[in-house]
Amino acid sequence: MCANETQIESLMQEERLFRPSRKDQMKAHVKSMKEYKAYYKESMEDPEGFWARRAEELITWNKKWRKVLRWDFNDPKIEWFIGGKLNVSYNCLDRHLENGRRNKAALIWQGEPEEDVKVYTYQMLHTEVCRFANVLKKLGVKKGDRVSIYLPMIPELPIAMLACARIGAPHSIVFAGFSASSLESRIQDCKAKVLITADAVLRSGRTIPLKPNADQALKNCPTVEKCVVVKRAGNEINMEEGRDLWWHELMADESIKDTCEPEIMDAEDMLFILYTSGSTGKPKGVIHTTGGYLTYAAHTTQWVFDLKDDDVYWCTADIGWITGHTYIVYGPLALGGTSLMFEGVPTWPAPDRFWKIVEKFKVNIFYTAPTVIRALMREGVEWTQKHDLSTLRILGSVGEPINPEAWMWYHENIGKGKLPIVDTWWQTETGGILIAPLPYATPLKPGSATLPLPGVDAAIVRSDGTPAKKNEGGYLVVKRPWPGMLRGVFGDPERFKKQYFDRFPGMYESGDGARRDEDGYFWIMGRLDDVINVSGHRLGTAEIESALVSHPSVAEAAVVGMPHPVKGQTIYAYVTLKAGLEESDDLRAELRNHVRKIIGPIASPEYIQFAVGLPKTRSGKIMRRILRKIVAGETEDFGDTSTLADPSVIEDLIKGNKELTGNK
Ligand code: PRX
Repeated sequence: MCANETQIESLMQEERLFRPSRKDQMKAHVKSMKEYKAYYKESMEDPEGFWARRAEELITWNKKWRKVLRWDFNDPKIEWFIGGKLNVSYNCLDRHLENGRRNKAALIWQGEPEEDVKVYTYQMLHTEVCRFANVLKKLGVKKGDRVSIYLPMIPELPIAMLACARIGAPHSIVFAGFSASSLESRIQDCKAKVLITADAVLRSGRTIPLKPNADQALKNCPTVEKCVVVKRAGNEINMEEGRDLWWHELMADESIKDTCEPEIMDAEDMLFILYTSGSTGKPKGVIHTTGGYLTYAAHTTQWVFDLKDDDVYWCTADIGWITGHTYIVYGPLALGGTSLMFEGVPTWPAPDRFWKIVEKFKVNIFYTAPTVIRALMREGVEWTQKHDLSTLRILGSVGEPINPEAWMWYHENIGKGKLPIVDTWWQTETGGILIAPLPYATPLKPGSATLPLPGVDAAIVRSDGTPAKKNEGGYLVVKRPWPGMLRGVFGDPERFKKQYFDRFPGMYESGDGARRDEDGYFWIMGRLDDVINVSGHRLGTAEIESALVSHPSVAEAAVVGMPHPVKGQTIYAYVTLKAGLEESDDLRAELRNHVRKIIGPIASPEYIQFAVGLPKTRSGKIMRRILRKIVAGETEDFGDTSTLADPSVIEDLIKGNKELTGNK
């Protein structure tokens, strides 16, 4: 169910304005608002010319395109750089061997144990990628075959991705925090031929077995012929004869060569599939293709992070999410940058883990999520003061709105009151950043993602598709394609159309609400659909509900996001038990565990309220608006409740919520 724009209001009325320093401006890729405005104007008047120039500046093509763009949002069909040929791994590796970067660090890996550090130069990474590409070929993987990857944050993950890209096999990465059953459904959906996994994940000082999840998933995945296993922790695991093979043994094979010719791909050939949550139960396989995605990844990394050759750039995301795909791997490596990759968590062994790493590697550009900032804010400034953060020059934020308090803390304590913060709004579907400041051009307002990047025709519309007025909340849409946008939903063209192009004909619907202020700045207000954002992780309430109702005790479940000071939102489930069953804390624990098993720990509800009835309309639809208001403690005005079948359930729900959470 979606809120309409009259219900959308922004709480943020931020007046502070921060301007970039003159000195940094002179050296930046985009130097001023004047330059930004000129690029923006050009990109709207001549989008094909603008993107053709960027694609030529940033990417090496084996064959130039015939036509820059063909699109129809009604069909929907989007094609960029038609007829163009290239290889992504060539662009991320080979070309840097000839342009003076051969011995430059491409990847710096900091493992969870302090002493676990590996540095790969471009030459070394090239060799590893070629070798693994040859391994994949030997296992029978051919151009177009899908490869699922279920790995922790270890170097084998980007190596596997780039090896897939090298031979033209689309990868589908599944975040290692997902359960066996989530992995299973993703492998089944894309019909992967090979799975790459590891024995375990190291996290917060613990060894969390991973291979048993893969074993469980593979019981029902007949398309998977081989499973490659990386030894990360050395824990005891089961290796299935004939199916499971050790990464290190495959790579040590003398017949495996150090070079592998890159497969020449069409610009519109699929590069990867990445599953993300939507408003229905089943995650969607978002498709990204080769030429447009890579151009967009390189373009946004260069302009938004102002990435330069001697920078150490660190994006703290997990590669299992889109942020890691675009801003740890493809964007920085396409530009020949040095990308730092980190295994672990921000608070272990101590809350200065991130700042210690910044100091250790002299990080220049640092990109993280608001939930991390809020969590570290709570730990106090003594942790930030212990370290020399003076190498930093740009800070970034992604995943959810950054509240002005967290923004100011980040600015003052990490940026020492001087550094620009780029609050970047985008989605799995957009492939790269759409709305964000350019660090040395755009004056900043804490809490606003500021302005659309050149080439991005973002707008706010009302539910009838007409433009919203200044400061009026509405639906955030994009009115024309950009090269990094998704090209489809794997195996489900109907869903692609329905989800993104049906409500507002001729526009891409993001699913987010936003308003635009008098300066044209965007203030993102969060999802308008049944998607919630827990610590920057995107989850569909319908997915969690269907996990809950798959438990034998549950008759019905409704899940909403409850505002949370650190996580942004936390998961709150209303559960109706089957007749005659006792409510108990044990059952709550069992249900939480059940959801962990079905989806993964990130989807486990923090609160489970047992409810005798849910607020339903006479036609049987649950009015989630009411449930959301209850968990937010906004019980004064529920709006129009005249269609409710039994309004009396509301009082019981409020009472139950107070008992559970102590909401006043
Ligand atoms: O609601 C928006 C929120 O995250 C959603 C996209 O989630 P996902 O596909 O997992 O990608 C996350 C990383 C790009 C969006 O629909 N979101 C992301 N960035 C921001 C944001 N909300 C506000 N401000 C942001 N900077």
